[in-house]
Amino acid sequence: MKILVVGSGAREHAIAWKLAQSDRVDAVCTAPGNAGTAELGDNLPVDVGDFGGLAEAVVTNHVDLVVVGPEVPLAGGIVDFLQARDVPVFGPDRRAAAIEGSKAFAKDLMQKHRIPCAWSETFDSFEEACACIHRLPEPPVVKVDGLAAGKGVTVAESKAEALAAVEAAMVRRVFGDAGRRVVLEERLRGIEASVFAFTDGQTVLTTIPACDYKRAWDGDRGPNTGGMGSYSPPEFFHEGLVRRINETVLEPTVKAMAAEGTPYKGILYAGLMVDEGSTKVLEFNCRLGDPETQVILPRMTSDLLDVIEATIDNRLDQASIQWDRRPCVGVVIASGGYPGEYRKGHPISGLSDVDPDVAVFHAGTRRADGRVVTDGGRVLTVTALGDTMEEARARAYDNVRRIQFQDARWRTDIALRAVVSESPTC
Ligand code: AMP
Ligand code: GLY
Repeated sequence: MKILVVGSGAREHAIAWKLAQSDRVDAVCTAPGNAGTAELGDNLPVDVGDFGGLAEAVVTNHVDLVVVGPEVPLAGGIVDFLQARDVPVFGPDRRAAAIEGSKAFAKDLMQKHRIPCAWSETFDSFEEACACIHRLPEPPVVKVDGLAAGKGVTVAESKAEALAAVEAAMVRRVFGDAGRRVVLEERLRGIEASVFAFTDGQTVLTTIPACDYKRAWDGDRGPNTGGMGSYSPPEFFHEGLVRRINETVLEPTVKAMAAEGTPYKGILYAGLMVDEGSTKVLEFNCRLGDPETQVILPRMTSDLLDVIEATIDNRLDQASIQWDRRPCVGVVIASGGYPGEYRKGHPISGLSDVDPDVAVFHAGTRRADGRVVTDGGRVLTVTALGDTMEEARARAYDNVRRIQFQDARWRTDIALRAVVSESPTC
């Protein structure tokens, strides 16, 4: 089979890398890809939003299956577009992808179907949103309804900050139409975790958890980023918690989506706040996480293509997924200045000095004059398995230090809390 992976981040490199390991895969190409995906197969110069161009690339390159990485094309209806042209494609259709594309849709679904989540209310009127903030006992979390590249959430420390966030979204429209509506939400406390499951609209297959690090600096300080590292499994996960998440969150959500006439097929990603005795949904996403994918797929010992095909063909009830019990740690190497301004085009050295069983997934990289150079804010994710979290972490950082480019920067505390209290149980 020939597979086309849509996207250009380290998540898509990891997906292409995992698919390339399947006995049944002859070739994997990526659109538009990066310098890492180019080593696995062709990079096709088509943007993720150019659905017509992607459909044409499928025909010209004799592609048998399309796997979509990012949320923007999914929420924009890439699956509907390709399916209408008889192209097999993995991911939820436009209406189902609204679980990520509209926070208001997701909150309505959760409230209606009693899926545990924070109290919230949705507003189309700026004045009413402000009045609600004044009435609330605590400053709420402000979320713009639509997609905002991970920047549409303000965890306000004061009512003034919440009011400013609402004004920026609804009046100044800094997120464009995505901020036409806002959701005000109760602030939850606890530890955050991401869980991922495959679903064909009926069966929910294995829930794999990971933690990511969104802040730029050590100790969870500094601005939010696309993610500076990840590890799996989280030290606080145990079988009872996985069961509770399946029974109270994932299975009811898949049932609810079917009941609402928007059956969900693909990867369901729940961002959770886990507290003693209670687990609540912070958000749903309609795809794999980045950087979580980079630590999850190295732990998957099953053939990813088998699971994807079973999902598309509604056969997940007959499928299973095996996971390596060893923990995995992924550290993102970013360009100096990210998530603010940074320079591109710095040559990257040391990539060939990395241990053969350590995976380096590329994001912002490209080839120039025969060399790999930086081409984005998040540049690489260096990923290592180990018999213990401590070993995985030590190996990841040992290999991070072998790679150099000007102004390279990374967090030094990825998975540290898991090492301090090591007890991986799932
Ligand atoms: P979201 O895009 O909804 O996941 O929000 C982005 C980040 O904002 C989450 O990963 C949390 O760190 C934080 N967040 C979102 N909702 C809440 C909430 N209700 N309480 C506390 N933090 C939240
Ligand atoms: N790791 C956060 C995300 O993929 O949205």
